[in-house]
Amino acid sequence: MSTVSMRFSISAFLTATSTALCQSILDLGSQQWTLSSDNVTVTGKVPSNAHLDLFEAGVIGDPLYGANDTALLWVQRMNWTYSTNISLSVDSDLSEDAATWLVFDGLDTFAYIELCNQSVGNTDNQFRQWYFDVSEIVQLCNTLSALTLSVNFGSATKIAANLAENGDSLVNYFDGGVTEEFCCKEFIRKQQSDFGWDWAPQLSPAGIWQPARLVQLSNRVEYNDDNDALMAPIYVRNTLIDIYRQGQMNNIPPEQSQPFIFNASLDFLGVLPEGSLLQLILHDTQKGNETILATPLDEVYSSNDTITGSVTIDPSVVSLWWPVGLGDQNLYYAIIEVVHNDNILAKVDKRVGFRTIVLNILNVTDSQIASGVLPGCNWNFEVNGNEFYAKGSNLVPPDVFWPRVNEKKIRNLFETAVIGNQNMLRIWSSGAYLPDWIYDIADEMGILLWSEFEFSDGVYPTNRSYIEQYVAEANYQVRRINHHPSLALWVGGNELEAILLAYYFSATEPGRLQRMYEQIQEELLIQAVYANTRSISYIPSSTYQGFLELNFSSSMPELPRYDNTSGPNFLYADTDFYNYDTYEAFDVNSYPIGRFATEFGFQSMPSIYSWQQVVPQDQLSFFSDIVIHRNRHYGGGNTTREQSISGLQQMTTAVEAWYPVPNMADPIANFSAWCWSTQVFQADYYTSELAFFRRGAGATNRNMGSLYWQLEDLWTAPTWASIEVDGRWKVLMYRAKDIYQPVVGYSFYNSSTGELEIWAMSDLWSVVTGNLQLSWTHWNGSTAMSVLGKNKTNFSIPFTIEAINSTLVYQTNIHSDLASYNETDDIIRDLVLRVDLSARGTPNSDRSSSPQQIPYSHTSYFHPATLQDANLQDPALTLAYKYKPGHREPHHFIVTATRAVAAWVWLDHPLGVGGYFSDNGFWLMSGEQRIVTFTVKNDWTWGLWTGDVVIRTLDGATDAI
Ligand SMILES: *[C@@H]1O[C@H](CO)[C@@H](O)[C@H](O)[C@H]1NC(C)=O
Ligand SMILES: *[C@@H]1O[C@H](CO)[C@@H](O)[C@H](O)[C@H]1NC(C)=O
Ligand SMILES: *[C@@H]1O[C@H](CO)[C@@H](O)[C@H](O)[C@H]1NC(C)=O
Ligand SMILES: *[C@@H]1O[C@H](CO)[C@@H](O)[C@H](O)[C@H]1NC(C)=O
Repeated sequence: MSTVSMRFSISAFLTATSTALCQSILDLGSQQWTLSSDNVTVTGKVPSNAHLDLFEAGVIGDPLYGANDTALLWVQRMNWTYSTNISLSVDSDLSEDAATWLVFDGLDTFAYIELCNQSVGNTDNQFRQWYFDVSEIVQLCNTLSALTLSVNFGSATKIAANLAENGDSLVNYFDGGVTEEFCCKEFIRKQQSDFGWDWAPQLSPAGIWQPARLVQLSNRVEYNDDNDALMAPIYVRNTLIDIYRQGQMNNIPPEQSQPFIFNASLDFLGVLPEGSLLQLILHDTQKGNETILATPLDEVYSSNDTITGSVTIDPSVVSLWWPVGLGDQNLYYAIIEVVHNDNILAKVDKRVGFRTIVLNILNVTDSQIASGVLPGCNWNFEVNGNEFYAKGSNLVPPDVFWPRVNEKKIRNLFETAVIGNQNMLRIWSSGAYLPDWIYDIADEMGILLWSEFEFSDGVYPTNRSYIEQYVAEANYQVRRINHHPSLALWVGGNELEAILLAYYFSATEPGRLQRMYEQIQEELLIQAVYANTRSISYIPSSTYQGFLELNFSSSMPELPRYDNTSGPNFLYADTDFYNYDTYEAFDVNSYPIGRFATEFGFQSMPSIYSWQQVVPQDQLSFFSDIVIHRNRHYGGGNTTREQSISGLQQMTTAVEAWYPVPNMADPIANFSAWCWSTQVFQADYYTSELAFFRRGAGATNRNMGSLYWQLEDLWTAPTWASIEVDGRWKVLMYRAKDIYQPVVGYSFYNSSTGELEIWAMSDLWSVVTGNLQLSWTHWNGSTAMSVLGKNKTNFSIPFTIEAINSTLVYQTNIHSDLASYNETDDIIRDLVLRVDLSARGTPNSDRSSSPQQIPYSHTSYFHPATLQDANLQDPALTLAYKYKPGHREPHHFIVTATRAVAAWVWLDHPLGVGGYFSDNGFWLMSGEQRIVTFTVKNDWTWGLWTGDVVIRTLDGATDAI
């Protein structure tokens, strides 16, 4: 035996691994790590990043406190090296040509890796799995005791600027040029919002942000008593599972009567013995993991690094997976084994679901046109052959630092979405591709995840080296994520086609800009999707005018329509809409008409509770230096002070235009009231938009979904979020929950003409029948009979709504109704309408043979004068907390409006408790009492928080009580 070829194995000291197959894998997260730069050395972690480890070591303060994001810019301008010593033991079982691999699930971003002082390689893409064969280095390493591994990260901000200086000048066409600190995001494959966004700070972390491992493989297979390989010759690094209906093709609704095809394709490291096969075992999680199927896969073929096979599954063996509200989330474990001569070489298990999901953007059919739908193309999702109304919001990265995003955080976030009557989240580009465990949670909760490739608001380079990066990244991610039934769609990027259509004609080199977009979004990414899966639809851009032709054998399978429309009466696209002219906020004529509303919104302030945690007391005012610093609208990552002040003024202008203006002596209480009032405007505006889009399900545009911008926050700042950074619900979250109920009523008003329309909307799959009860009162609670007359004051109107549709139930003209009076404006100021909807319908989730109807109800209010002008009265609210004897939960709060109509009644819970109220931001009639419960998610107050709940309402004067 030669002396240099001493081999080392990590197997001897591995502890907490359960299956025999994991024996040759060392989780690098279990190592002791050091993080160092020129002037700092601290303990490091994997997965983590430099900011988090420096914070943990006390070298820096909280990056999300005050203006620390700017104070800490030095961190992202330095190189950071993570290093560790891997101790080895000699393992005589390993044969001469045993292989050792380093596998990183994610490196953020520019890393130079050394093992045993030998160069291993360089990385330049945050979104790829990186793996390196280090067998030779390990075998030649002259250290018996330890292998030194070091990962040196360069400064992504510097590297991006450098690449831009030397890169394609067209790429910066839409940006501010290469002179700014945070320019050039398009030149690097790193989370683009790390460079700042209009809701995000500029923090550009560096580190081993995903799990990493050292893998040892043998070429001589040894087995334990169960015939599992002890030291396997292969390691499965990624797994594709594609479940689709036989004959299914991407973007086309499949035949639901067909059997399922189960296709598995495993990416492995090592050398697969000739004649290896695949088998599938299916466990039913609904039946305690009972095995319902065990079968070899057919048509197995393998290459140097992939083994693939498939099998037909009789659909009667499995139950379908449905999104929340549409059915059960039936899930199965698929265990795929790589076998050779009856021995198991490798085994992976993935939890899967059986469903089809398609984004149908095919042409509107003749029968749809006959039923009143505008011609053009559809834009709706279909699950298991059923079109449904998508309700949801846009998800941004839940933390500026991914390594500290944990399961509890995501479960709370997704639970909020589910309670908020949402069934779809758009995983906005350009954060990061979500880890598998987040998709797993979505699979369990039934939340569909519209998923995007990380390209956003710009032109991206198409030099050969970039193209290779995109291909590797797209193939890895498509294969990794595809088994999750919650995966709803792949999209080539954020707001790309619209920019192209708007600007490329005036661009310096229009043809080349279009070609760059087409190369990435219309060829490369769609090919990565179509080559790997038949179950998922693809569109190139978050707003999309559809295609003229779908041709699976073309290099550009979706021939883009762009502006080649068939005429003005045709409608094609989804919409992306922001209007900061707040005087138009409630004018539905200013809203976009599309097939689907993908983004829309308006910013609001976080609550005083969030501000208090991140700024000193003297900064608690609307235009304080730190509030101005933290506002990034407009200007994105490079907002100037002047731009920020204008952005903040959009919120104050809105409050002044529409609501009583807070004016309290106590400056902190006044700031708090202002923050809350901006949230009321936001909620009011979104409710009107959401109702309008839902009404569109019954209009000629056949709108089939709305996803508002944005679900949550990753720091405390004025943003479009409905949930604050610590999980506190803004007013919007409660009101979106309300208007997203299956059957709702809403009043649309044109204040110039006096035209009032009251609509009922339903997203149920069958016909709904019901009544609207209309009651007009004055603000003091008395009936408006003396003004409107008996017949027009308190009455009920029956209605019917077709499946996923809307209907105009009542129409009047307030100006004509009051034409006989002189003081019309005074009368209008004193009128309030309460609209109570009651209906019966069958829940979409009822799949029984004899579906049952259940009652639905919804209440909304309408006021013809703005609340700024209205004759609001002090309702003299009272709040009482009630223990239910013997029960700690739920906590009951009794709210009463003792003497007038109360608008936007709002309960605030103190710091120290996390959770949500059953309802909030609601209205009360004079004398009405409401019991509100609170669901506790965290409590650090030993229950004392119940005494610190305060209540407020929009009457222009009172402080929280
Ligand atoms: C950041 O925030 C902390 C509070 O966590 C503060 O003490 C510190 O001085 C701030 N500045 C820096 C540069 O860390
Ligand atoms: C390390 O050096 C950088 C760059 O010179 C400097 O900005 C930073 O404050 C230093 N940090 C520490 C902890 O000494
Ligand atoms: C910092 O990182 C860059 C990019 O990887 C590299 O070129 C450079 O040599 C590194 N510098 C140091 C001092 O490690
Ligand atoms: C069901 O089987 C899967 C796959 O083997 C396993 O990961 C999971 O823990 C099992 N669950 C239960 C409840 O036994």
